[in-house]
Amino acid sequence: MRGFAHRQRMQQQGIRREDIMDRPMVAIINTWSDLSPCHAHLRERAEAVKRGVLMAGGYPVELPAMSLGEVMVKPTTMLYRNLLAMEVEELLRSLPCDGAVILAGCDKTTPGTLMGAISMDLPFIFCPAGPMLNDRYVRDGVSRIVGAGTHTRIFWDEYQAGNIDANEMEHLESRMTRSPGTCNTMGTASTMTCLTEALGLTLPGASAIPAMDSAHARMATDCGERIVGMIWEDLKPSRLLTKGSFDNAMAVQMALAGSTNAAIHLLAVARRANIALTLDAMDTMARQVPVLANLFPSGDRLMEDFYYAGGLPALMEVIRSKLSTSEMTVTSRTVGENIAAAKVLDPVVIRPLEQPVTSAEALAVLKGNLAPNGAVIKPSAASLKLMQHTGRALVFDSQPEMLAAIADESLDCDENTVLVLRNAGPIGAPGMPEWGNLPIPKKLLRMGVRDMLRLSDARMSGTHYGTCVLHISPESAVGGPLSLVESGDLIELDVMSRKLHLHVEETELQRRRANWRSKAFDYQRGFVHLYQKHVTQAHEGCDFDFMQGTQTTPEPVIF
Ligand code: FES
Repeated sequence: MRGFAHRQRMQQQGIRREDIMDRPMVAIINTWSDLSPCHAHLRERAEAVKRGVLMAGGYPVELPAMSLGEVMVKPTTMLYRNLLAMEVEELLRSLPCDGAVILAGCDKTTPGTLMGAISMDLPFIFCPAGPMLNDRYVRDGVSRIVGAGTHTRIFWDEYQAGNIDANEMEHLESRMTRSPGTCNTMGTASTMTCLTEALGLTLPGASAIPAMDSAHARMATDCGERIVGMIWEDLKPSRLLTKGSFDNAMAVQMALAGSTNAAIHLLAVARRANIALTLDAMDTMARQVPVLANLFPSGDRLMEDFYYAGGLPALMEVIRSKLSTSEMTVTSRTVGENIAAAKVLDPVVIRPLEQPVTSAEALAVLKGNLAPNGAVIKPSAASLKLMQHTGRALVFDSQPEMLAAIADESLDCDENTVLVLRNAGPIGAPGMPEWGNLPIPKKLLRMGVRDMLRLSDARMSGTHYGTCVLHISPESAVGGPLSLVESGDLIELDVMSRKLHLHVEETELQRRRANWRSKAFDYQRGFVHLYQKHVTQAHEGCDFDFMQGTQTTPEPVIF
């Protein structure tokens, strides 16, 4: 009866019975929208995927999913990552699909769609949106590479310091993101699509193909063709994802100097596959794998250069000795087989193991009385001179308070001050926005200061840089020690010994704790109500507590 109704309704759309009979139905989950500029080309790519599905004997159906354009969503796309994950899982559960191709790439769309598809455990293949094209900026006759996100902050600081005028800023506004595709630096988008490739969930080399390259459309068609084979082979995530595949993703994260956001997303994705991954494991991997990809913000090249240099397969070949090469992938071949023919074509962009981009690590996990459950910093994109630093705290309880203060020319601070922002974590903000790269106070910018030690329970854009301690857990809104800091307290950072310490006596901290009240706004309705009740802390991946693990959701009774 149900099959009869399904076939009847497909024919209602003008589709022939024989076109759908005995063919796998492939969902093309598309995160395109008019407010997701990084995904502007994904409608065309969906057509390319469809070609591949049809050629391989499947039947494609396109299903829209929440688009989450990173820069467009307020207060942050992170607030909605878990909603996208639930949407993808329920799309695949509720509709008659045998497998899926996922079209995504802008920051949270990758972990969100992965989390949902892994929980549903149908065969799927991830088709990354691909990075946008490189851009150049000519000033005083000198041409410089410009990277999305990274240079937004660089130019904004120079504008605040009076070194760039409004006309030039307006020109830059129209030039810095010059094509559809994801940010062309090693920001969160490129980090997460590369980690997805390292997990074996994309076709080899897919993550670096520029969005506007004709190879990108061909790759999309290949995805459509391959998913049909995966469905017949029943090659689902539970048969692909192992501890070894997540170790590979961590190794790639470090070699790329990927975004600190991966320290949240990878934990959340792993937990959906029932793989126990911890911040400590990431710290251990960061000590073992040097930064080899010369990409902003840790290096000085862009994703298009990375593509020409051989892309991720070439980088993985360089770190082969650090990888578990026997892990199975969507190609039905192992990681080792996928990268066997890969070669580095430009050693300036992908460095040999013995010539890293920097001696600093891609990630360090800090612990101490300020962060009992951990905090992260990206030493490779921070200032060496601040890796060991003690300074007086200047505390802000909210982002508006902080923004007003840093614009105040009379603000009491100097380059040794430690800027602290709180109530910016998963529950407090809510959604843990990328406010962790606190702006340098205007008066210090004018004096030439471009970096300071900054602390928060927020995240930072993967495209950004600076000595920013992020993801302090537990967050201040639930009474984490960050909530007890007062302006003037001494804070000590020692990255080498992984230490983050508040120099205040325990008796005084207890006195402050007794008087503490949460400043988090308590949402009483809607999605944010659900979010605040169930989101986990940063060191646990910020997934919903009721969505982790692989317990099956009972299928609804159908007639
Ligand atoms: Fe979409 Fe950066 S804004 S990837």
